[in-house]
Amino acid sequence: MPEETTTPPVATAPGAEAPSAAPQVPEAPSAAPQVPEAPSAAPQVATIATLGQHEGQSVTLKGWLYNSRESGKLLFPIFRDGTGTVQGVAHVKSVAPEVFAALKGLTQESSVIVTGKVRADKRAPGGFELDVEIVEVVQRVPESDPYPITLKDHGVDFLMEHRHLWVRSPRQSAILRIRAEIMRAAAEYFDSNGFIRTDPPILTPAACEGTSTLFPVDYFGDPAFLTQSGQLYIESTALALGKVYSFGPTFRAEKSKTRRHLTEFWMIEPEVAYCDLDGLLELAENFLSHIVQSVLKNRGPELTVIGRDRAKLEAIIPPFPRLRYDDAVEMLNQAHKEGHLEAPFEYGNDFGSPDETWLSNQFDRPVMVNRYPADVKAFYMEPDPKDPRLALCVDVLAPEGYGEIIGGSQRVSSYELLSSRIDEHKLPREAFQWYLDLRRYGSVPHAGFGMGIERAVAWICGLDHVRETIPFARTLHRIYP
Ligand code: 4AD
Ligand code: MG
Repeated sequence: MPEETTTPPVATAPGAEAPSAAPQVPEAPSAAPQVPEAPSAAPQVATIATLGQHEGQSVTLKGWLYNSRESGKLLFPIFRDGTGTVQGVAHVKSVAPEVFAALKGLTQESSVIVTGKVRADKRAPGGFELDVEIVEVVQRVPESDPYPITLKDHGVDFLMEHRHLWVRSPRQSAILRIRAEIMRAAAEYFDSNGFIRTDPPILTPAACEGTSTLFPVDYFGDPAFLTQSGQLYIESTALALGKVYSFGPTFRAEKSKTRRHLTEFWMIEPEVAYCDLDGLLELAENFLSHIVQSVLKNRGPELTVIGRDRAKLEAIIPPFPRLRYDDAVEMLNQAHKEGHLEAPFEYGNDFGSPDETWLSNQFDRPVMVNRYPADVKAFYMEPDPKDPRLALCVDVLAPEGYGEIIGGSQRVSSYELLSSRIDEHKLPREAFQWYLDLRRYGSVPHAGFGMGIERAVAWICGLDHVRETIPFARTLHRIYP
């Protein structure tokens, strides 16, 4: 039995002044009839998410007061414990006077340990209510300095400024729980399909994804940069281990202030030796559908809390449509003619946000746009042997207008070509000698991609901005809290 349950529960009267005040131990044992007499009958510590396993029993929850309603002799405190919320019921006649007093007027986000009997209630969002028996107020939030996030609407700037508290809201907690499931399922997919996780460095001497978004770091007097992607390093470990992946924070000094861009984000990247573009597309569709199906299976209540349409996610099963860049351009120009897009699309450009949004709205599954013009893509991408002006690359655009969530390619395998690309892109040769070595010694066709976790969370949760997809978003104008 957990140690906590052997401590006799106590009730604390409201008005325990100092925030640091330890729970007060009443001198006489509580006279509440519900208090179990023998320690062996002490209620089990439970979580709100698992109340269903305790119907009819008394359990102890450790959490906070999310909100409460009072109507005369009846109190309806709503508790949260990180796993969910549950409404409690306390009638003046059914609980000890000090329990009623502790709950009455209890302030939002006060920390409480509450014991009560679990009762099924069809009208309750989680299916259960708690008939309160004992309450211990761990820290009472003083009226003089109330919890700043009330239940009325606040502007996004205010909420972001209070992000350290905003994460407590049921909606934000649900998003973070779904995020964790996405990360777990993503790693699980690779772990259970023969991939070895290898961790690339975060401090790097050179660019991977263009020099305009590098974050400089002073490395003992030498210039260094925060990594933009682990790719170049896991190309090395892929040639050592066969199938590898990396999973970690990546950084882009993005000057763009869009709903899709963060300056610090998490990327998961597989890299596979002896893999071509077709193999990569298959990997991407199986990987993505595994993640979405895992969220459906393991985070159902959270999807309900955030109001996500499950049917949209249930449709995410392979095969995903494949669309060549050329054909995507035709679709965009057709859309412009029909008045759906403001500007005509110029062949040879990369897609802008409105283009991606429109394209991704045309499909009910992620669409895998492949073979972009090599000129708009990264230096390391293998040219298409059938038309070397095109790169053997893919951008996976999530449906419902979410746009790119995955970018990947087959990699240049020829030493000579890679060497001339490094010069053309004006990259520092010295910093890439080790990368060229991978083409000197046993070069093979290989391919990989990167998925931004926050973009995936935004799509799977149906959010309109990536700032809610990560506990503490880093954007152009925000690095607090
Ligand atoms: O398309 P990107 O730039 O590709 C790479 O970095 C490759 N080296 C990956 C690889 O092949 N191993 O970035 C990959 C993904 C994007 O599709 C997007 O989901 C995410 O990373 N991403 C961002 N997410 C949030 N904010 C940003 N500023 C992002 N930039 C890229
Ligand atoms: Mg990209």
